[in-house]
Amino acid sequence: MSELIRFGVSIDEKLLKKFDQLIEDGYTNRSEAIRDLIRDKIVEEKCQDEEEDVVGTLTLFYDHHQRGTTEKMMTIQHDYYSLFKSNLHLHLSHHICLEVIIVEGKRKKLNEVTQKLIGLRGVKHGKLTVSAVDESL
Ligand code: NI
Repeated sequence: MSELIRFGVSIDEKLLKKFDQLIEDGYTNRSEAIRDLIRDKIVEEKCQDEEEDVVGTLTLFYDHHQRGTTEKMMTIQHDYYSLFKSNLHLHLSHHICLEVIIVEGKRKKLNEVTQKLIGLRGVKHGKLTVSAVDESL
């Protein structure tokens, strides 16, 4: 870790009060909360870059009774096999399955495969959530 730098921040009183309310349950001091906000913004910016290597989860809700959906999902995952690291499958109800997949790779490729999976008939909802590992943070 590099050297800690102290700096002053001018902030509107009302805004600071709202910030303190926001962090009161999870943080013991403002410094750590501000550091986390900065880290979050840096990671968010990184994740917007389509050429960036990112890791994350792809969550899919689908109807396994919909004809062909499961097979098409498998075909797409095999087409992009290097992105898919681990799957968790839960039978949520008689019809609906939840699949949580740990993914890793270029943001552009993950967006592409996510669109293909979400676009399948029978997939009710899907969401890709990513983060970028930056050890300098
Ligand atoms: Ni299932």
